[in-house]
Amino acid sequence: MIPPGQPLDSSTDRLNSRLAALSNHLEVAREEERERIARDIHDVLGGHLVAIKIETALLAARLDGDPAQLRKRVRGIERLLDDAIATVSRVTRELRPGILKDFGLGAAIECQAEDFTQRTGIACRIVCADHDIQLARDAEVALFRTFQEALTNVCKHACASRVEVRLTEEGDDVLLEVRDDGKGFDPADMDKPRSFGLRGMRERLAAFGGRLEIDSMRPGGTRLLLAVPLYDERIRHDSGEQDR
Ligand SMILES: Nc1ncnc2c1ncn2[C@@H]1O[C@H](COP(=O)(O)OP(=O)(O)OP(=O)(O)O)[C@@H](O)[C@H]1O
Ligand SMILES: [Mg+2]
Repeated sequence: MIPPGQPLDSSTDRLNSRLAALSNHLEVAREEERERIARDIHDVLGGHLVAIKIETALLAARLDGDPAQLRKRVRGIERLLDDAIATVSRVTRELRPGILKDFGLGAAIECQAEDFTQRTGIACRIVCADHDIQLARDAEVALFRTFQEALTNVCKHACASRVEVRLTEEGDDVLLEVRDDGKGFDPADMDKPRSFGLRGMRERLAAFGGRLEIDSMRPGGTRLLLAVPLYDERIRHDSGEQDR
């Protein structure tokens, strides 16, 4: 409630910054949950699949004298297991971009782009001017998650054959440009009631004082610019330690 006599604006500002802090806190909780799920998938499911694959390979080695049909089936099982192991490893990487923690944003973006090309057949060129970009951990995760959604949109909607990704530092901002050569879209498409991707990207970046710029031509493709400030004293102060 707004105390009597207090100007409306300062109350709204305070409310907004508390909301930003809460949303930030939820985001951190969600990332922790993802890490836990990724650990379970990787350690339990991944481990079992590798064990079954080894057992199957041993079984296949003993089938020398058996009918060709049987051997063909076992080889089929091995191929399915290879697919399942690769999927577990990809899902784990997506859920918990450990590479982000260990090797930084540039490496995580390159790795994600390679996965994307392998899965979709869409070529992805990365220009990463600086591998030493130092963002706050939460801001880095936010930028990486919005990048994942940008690639998902290319694969879902764009009918593109190429994507170009550029990671640069410009003034006080880290910029990530994602450009595809697909069919582009209408500005009205951004407000589809059941579409949350672009909205979510905007909110994630805004929580760190960042912004999303969308430039789409029909035809001609789409260019997204994801920007996050290198240092955001305002957000750190508003949503930081005092609220936790
Ligand atoms: N790279 C792109 N190329 C072509 N169209 C796009 C592209 N990105 C987004 N769009 C259009 O913008 C719309 C909104 O995208 P948005 O990511 O918000 O939602 P969505 O992908 O439809 O659903 P979701 O909530 O699962 O993300 C899409 O439905 C699509 O029409
Ligand atoms: Mg989407």
